[in-house]
Amino acid sequence: MEKNKFYITTSIAYASGKPHIGNTYEVVLADSIARFKRLQGYDVYFQTGTDEHGQKIEEKAIKAGLQPQEFVDDMAREVRKIWDTMNTSYDKFVRTTNPKHEDIVKKIFKKLYDKGDIYKGRYEGLYCTPCESFFTESQLVDGKCPDCGREVSKTSEEAYFFKMSKYVDKLLDYIESSNFIQPESRKNEMINNFIKPGLQDLCVTRTSFKWGIPVDFDPLHVIYVWLDALTNYITFIGYDPDGSDEKFNKYWPCDVHLVGKDIIRFHTIYWPIILMALDLPLPKKVFGHPWLLVGNDKMSKSKGNIIYADDLVKEYGVDAIRYYFLHEIPFANDGTYTDELLIERYNSDLANNLGNLVNRTISMAHKYFDGVVPEVGIKEDVDNELINTCLNAYDLVNSKMDELKVADAIDVVFGIFKRANKYIDETMPWVLAKEGNTDRLKTVIYNLLESIRIGTVLLQPFLPETADKIFSQLNTENKSFESIKEFNGLDTDIKLNNPEPLFVRIDKNK
Ligand code: MSP
Repeated sequence: MEKNKFYITTSIAYASGKPHIGNTYEVVLADSIARFKRLQGYDVYFQTGTDEHGQKIEEKAIKAGLQPQEFVDDMAREVRKIWDTMNTSYDKFVRTTNPKHEDIVKKIFKKLYDKGDIYKGRYEGLYCTPCESFFTESQLVDGKCPDCGREVSKTSEEAYFFKMSKYVDKLLDYIESSNFIQPESRKNEMINNFIKPGLQDLCVTRTSFKWGIPVDFDPLHVIYVWLDALTNYITFIGYDPDGSDEKFNKYWPCDVHLVGKDIIRFHTIYWPIILMALDLPLPKKVFGHPWLLVGNDKMSKSKGNIIYADDLVKEYGVDAIRYYFLHEIPFANDGTYTDELLIERYNSDLANNLGNLVNRTISMAHKYFDGVVPEVGIKEDVDNELINTCLNAYDLVNSKMDELKVADAIDVVFGIFKRANKYIDETMPWVLAKEGNTDRLKTVIYNLLESIRIGTVLLQPFLPETADKIFSQLNTENKSFESIKEFNGLDTDIKLNNPEPLFVRIDKNK
């Protein structure tokens, strides 16, 4: 049977500097969803990459004494290294300086121009270089850029414009009649703040700098970086206005575009309008995730509070950081990073709840049964609560992940480990051993091992390295999603491997 497809993307990070933990959080979040869908049996295609054109990058390259291409080559390498450090399982890492992408973007531009959706005019307005956007006087906040708060400068240039207004009614219909924009609160924000007040035509070329894709029939103009960047989602899967690849027909429309809350507007207004103009189906969902703050602040060079994921991984290990990102940033509200909170989570959730459970259980199996998984003996009522917690997790995690509520899904998984720890306190295996109650002890150890296996199957998308370590200690290949629908997936009589600590407690004072 052919698998259902699932196409997920992150935004593409600007190749203008090393990505910080906020940018990195996005790719880890996308990775957890991609891995979960693979576990469910989907044919997943997960795309991420770098956005490499624009004035800001041109300026940074000049400052660094490099050609823009050399500069973005270094940056793309850096971004990719961090994505790899985070153990993200992307299927493709794209770069917008790829010549094939550049060709298709030129063709797209020409197609829209020929159709009359792009026309030539003149722009007189206020320009924000870091955001590469024009604003009118009334859109400024305290005279500054409404997006980033920096200075804008007066600009007047000949430019091409995209007729946004032509598609706005159709867009509104789509947004209102679907759950295209997630979370729901963002939907209202887009409708009330941007669509209802009236969409202006979008200026889609620049002449003030060179580092971009030129309009091939008017090469003084370079294509607006957002038009170039957004189309990455189709160009790299084989879209071509003259006839697309098989791959494009298979994966498009995208199932989820995962983007930060600051760029939802580009993905839920401009992007669908570009697609409508190209007569292409619209993406099914755009999830605008909240931000990761440091303490209560946005990260910025001027505040000197930028944190990089690779530094944290060196200190705490990759899964500790993945856990923190995925668990601490709720669905709709910003999350916060502090060293104290990271250490607290590490000690309480990873070292105590999960690590101790696995270590104690495997050690007891070695001590009481020579490391061989025992058969179930005498059952008691107290077993049912643990078993039900495990069995209910399948549906619960499924439904949380369907809603992209990753932090809630992780809570369900850790709820299994918590319940299993309580079961140890309730059943007191060491007392059973002392009393020689082997038949009951067998059941208790089996139930604990099987609970750990079930929890670990569900842990795989979130903490893949830790899940592998636990499976290796359990010496089982029974890792499939389907295998946790019943509470008997761990074969008896297999010999467990030796317990190895998963997370060593951190001494806060050090
Ligand atoms: N290049 C554009 C995206 C183009 S997509 C066609 C861009 N790049 S970025 O490097 O500035 O941001 C990459 C992603 O990181 C964006 O989704 C952005 O929202 C996200 N984040 C930036 N800072 C963040 C936090 N502090 N926390 C979480 N995500 C953050 O925008």
